[in-house]
Amino acid sequence: MKRQLSNKYKMTTLITNIGQLIGTRTETHVLRGSELSDLPFIENAWLLIEEGQIADYGHMYELDLKLPQIPRVVIDANGSFVLPAWCDSHSHIVFAGSREAEFVDKIKGFSYSEIAAKGGGILNSAKRMSEISEAELFNESWKRLEEVSKLGTGAIEIKSGYGLSVAGELKMLRVIKQLREKSPLTIKSTFLGAHTYPLEFKDNHHGYIDLIINEMLPVIVAENLADYIDVFCETGFFSPEETETICKAGLAYGLKPKLHVNQLNSIGGIAMGQSLQAVSLDHLETLTEAEIQLLSNDQWKGLCTLLPSAAFFLRMPFQPARKLIDAGCAVALASDYNPGSSPSGNMNLVVAMSCIQMKMLPEEAINAATINGAYAMELGDQLGSITIGRKANLIFTKPIPSIAYLPYSFGTNLIDKVMVNGEFI
Ligand code: NIG
Ligand code: FE
Repeated sequence: MKRQLSNKYKMTTLITNIGQLIGTRTETHVLRGSELSDLPFIENAWLLIEEGQIADYGHMYELDLKLPQIPRVVIDANGSFVLPAWCDSHSHIVFAGSREAEFVDKIKGFSYSEIAAKGGGILNSAKRMSEISEAELFNESWKRLEEVSKLGTGAIEIKSGYGLSVAGELKMLRVIKQLREKSPLTIKSTFLGAHTYPLEFKDNHHGYIDLIINEMLPVIVAENLADYIDVFCETGFFSPEETETICKAGLAYGLKPKLHVNQLNSIGGIAMGQSLQAVSLDHLETLTEAEIQLLSNDQWKGLCTLLPSAAFFLRMPFQPARKLIDAGCAVALASDYNPGSSPSGNMNLVVAMSCIQMKMLPEEAINAATINGAYAMELGDQLGSITIGRKANLIFTKPIPSIAYLPYSFGTNLIDKVMVNGEFI
């Protein structure tokens, strides 16, 4: 007679014959400097999942010894490598339409700043944002979320910043909230009202900052729409002093900063971000030696989030990952998926680019895109590693000879299946 499954084992899945189980850790912390190249794994492994979480794992040869004969679903991984799903800690996937005309303008020789100055760039997306309904915006964004989840992303941070008005920013943040409610992915939300000055406030910075602080923030907080606050601290956008004013207002509501700094120019965003205890300082294409030293200071607990696909798309020098890691920094990798500087959310490509162009080792890149990405969203205790109690968000690869093969064969989709909370998506 068939035994009735007890509650405990109802949702139990055993994965057997894993070629390599990558990222196995008994405890986790942010990986800094040389720690980033340590990517522990178990060859020929099994993994047990209960209630969507990693319950146990080990070597195949000790499976019978360790696991009693309990009823469970068994999935044969057939030699697939299994690794934690990507944790993409910086994206702008809620946007309306696309900007390929600017892409062509850039090919013809216009710079990012020139395109922004003539009303293109972020303002172009803001115009489209004002014209789209919340329902349509949700549908467009949902498609992008589905697309990146099939490419292995299991957790993602999403920013506002194309609204630039009370109604527009709220529309974006409400869509992020809906995505969070409807998707199995873990989603963090960031308020980026300070992405650029809308045209009507071009010469009235004080007026726009006032709008952010007194009109946007109180509603956002009342509706619980954001986890973090972000500012584009850059020449022609927000100065370090303006960044400070906005972040302090956010901090007063409990929103910690995650900031866009040093993308195009070095204007003091790093020192300012560190004084605000930013959770992460992102972009970092343009860095002085002194700033690299600042970023390596372990008194600052935040992460340096590098976005190589934005550097690639804008034909900018890649972020100096090697120098940052060698100086002891905590580096994370993210997609920056957005319509202007990175119209791709493919974290596999991000990992490959960071190895090919930034000389990160495959192990460093995978750690930066998983466990450190999780910490860059303050999710390191839930995601980003194969650790008992963490969410079973997993990538199953197609047959590969080694983990270095993933970034080596860039552009090839080597992802066979993706699991989120213990279920294949
Ligand atoms: O992270 N640099 C600021 N924000 C985005 C780009 C925004 C856009 O061009 O739409 C970024 O690269
Ligand atoms: Fe960005």
